[in-house]
Amino acid sequence: MNMAECMKTRRSIRKYKPDPVDHSLIDSIVSMASYSPSWKNTQITRYTAIEDSSLLREIADRFTPDYNSNIIRQAPMLIAVTIIKGRSGFERDGSFSTRKGDRWQMFDAGAACQSFCLAAWEKGLGTVIMGIFDEDGITKLLHIPQEQELAALIAVGWPDAAPEAPGRKAVGDLIQYR
Ligand SMILES: Cc1cc2nc3c(=O)[nH]c(=O)nc-3n(C[C@H](O)[C@H](O)[C@H](O)COP(=O)(O)O)c2cc1C
Repeated sequence: MNMAECMKTRRSIRKYKPDPVDHSLIDSIVSMASYSPSWKNTQITRYTAIEDSSLLREIADRFTPDYNSNIIRQAPMLIAVTIIKGRSGFERDGSFSTRKGDRWQMFDAGAACQSFCLAAWEKGLGTVIMGIFDEDGITKLLHIPQEQELAALIAVGWPDAAPEAPGRKAVGDLIQYR
């Protein structure tokens, strides 16, 4: 699959086959995502791959709204994407480098998540990024260390659906030349 095809055909997948996903595959996807750009190459994004059925059930039952718990209940794996705080967008003395404050942290996580999802898709794996969850609940459940912050959840698995692409805006609405 070439890059254009991968970018255009990747979809958010919300229905998965129950088959497990090999760790070697996930490792290679994380390796691809490690080539994402990041603030001063700080590489603050981390991944916790959750496969344990009781953990997955608890996240689905207690810490996500129905439309996301229905996805998590049938995904063989859920990735908790975390960021190491206080590096991306920060000076060495702890002050912000720009007026965007700490928002570069989530920017870096977003770039890494996109790479992760594209690398997964290229290997035939479906993903969906989820931004709505009980952050405090999942942080406690997974014992996410204090120096990290939960940025997003990504369900991963072999697709059991082939959704149509939601409409995209016209290029003319997205770019202006001056
Ligand atoms: C930051 C972010 C948060 C998202 N949160 C959710 C979510 O909580 N639940 C969900 O089902 N999809 C979620 N999505 C997926 C979007 O709905 C999806 O990317 C969008 O509709 C375009 O569809 P596509 O990914 O198939 O191209 C999220 C995507 C992003 C980038």
